[in-house]
Amino acid sequence: MRNFETLLITGGCGFIGSNFVRYLLKEAGFQGRVINLDKLTYAGNPHNLSDIERDFSNQYRFVIGDICNGETLQKIYDQNRFDGIIHFAAESHVDRSIYGPAEFIQTNIHGTFSLLECARKNWPAGQGLFHHVSTDEVFGSLGDEGYFTESTAYDPHSPYSASKAASDHLVKAYHHTYGLPITLSNCSNNYGPYHFPEKLIPLMILNALAGKRLPVYGDGRNVRDWLYVEDHCRGIWRIMQNGRPGETYNIGGHSEKTNLDVVHTLCDLLEEAAPAGCNLHLKKQGFAAYRDLLLFVKDRPGHDRRYAIDCRKIEDELGWRPTVSFAEGLKRTIRWYLDHPDWVRTVQSGAYRQWLDQHYGQ
Ligand code: NAD
Ligand code: TYD
Repeated sequence: MRNFETLLITGGCGFIGSNFVRYLLKEAGFQGRVINLDKLTYAGNPHNLSDIERDFSNQYRFVIGDICNGETLQKIYDQNRFDGIIHFAAESHVDRSIYGPAEFIQTNIHGTFSLLECARKNWPAGQGLFHHVSTDEVFGSLGDEGYFTESTAYDPHSPYSASKAASDHLVKAYHHTYGLPITLSNCSNNYGPYHFPEKLIPLMILNALAGKRLPVYGDGRNVRDWLYVEDHCRGIWRIMQNGRPGETYNIGGHSEKTNLDVVHTLCDLLEEAAPAGCNLHLKKQGFAAYRDLLLFVKDRPGHDRRYAIDCRKIEDELGWRPTVSFAEGLKRTIRWYLDHPDWVRTVQSGAYRQWLDQHYGQ
């Protein structure tokens, strides 16, 4: 098993990054130091880790900065001599990449390149480990049958997935060309606490509670494989500790659902946790149930039909398996959003709202 003294985590104030830092320090019992480098874009919220900042002040340090800035990276290396990198930082939302791809190219491609250069220049040959967190969307879209494996050819369709595919190729190239120790994971759709409410699951929960319509793109029959975020975090840490350098691992939840299934299930679980009959927002507008809020809207351009993951490699080699069922994960997620109204208010204000107003008139 690999040990690390100091880990550089990029994008630790985002959804998966903040869950990972919390998992690492609170669940996995990591004893080393964690440096979280995050630029705090609209999706980054330092309050996501305020408990960690308070309870692990001797192990955890937050640095505001841009992964694209080589000088910043060098300074962090000189000060901390990190021996592992877990690279989460990215522009991550497909819809935003359609309306403004430039930031995706900058952060996802140039940013990954800067980090790779930093690792290559500073780590002695064969030392350190660079883990790149990527997505199943690099593989494109499936028909009704079949699964993405680690050897599926890349066929990205959105500016987001194309930028992630480019970064994956760079990471692999640094291994093949310079011998940089790397691992890579391509994971399916995550959900859980601290998920920014522009993505399907948190958007639907919060819209429903506020009595707003639930916009389902196209016919709602697009399929995604859903994984509870903590299971993803365990998978990444398992790869960091035991994965083979140079290898890619697919991570998935064995949980394929159409978007309509997801929205219906969410509405039904919300009826149990916060019945629509007691919700004044719905009452005012004459809606009797959360399901009545569902609205089919214009489809996303280039919308991938189906993603499904074959994750036998990480299961067989590293003994990882998803542990949280979709029903249980959704219950926990709904409970978390109900219990954190202040967090919701914070992230729903400012730049994110302006962007929504501009593009969707909500
Ligand atoms: P997120 O958008 O919630 O968080 C991204 C974080 O990166 C934010 O804190 C943001 O401030 C930071 N960031 C953005 N640009 C930066 C820059 N130039 N320098 C430093 N920090 C910067 O994203 P997420 O959903 O947590 O995704 C994390 C990673 O996991 C991404 O690489 C994404 O491609 C990958 N991934 C996500 C999913 C998913 O379902 N969310 C699935 C598979 C893979
Ligand atoms: P999303 O959460 O944006 O993740 P991704 O595009 O990376 O898979 O979307 C998940 C699915 O939900 C996708 O098929 C698009 C669909 N979707 C809607 O139908 N309505 C929405 O408002 C959003 C945000 C997504």
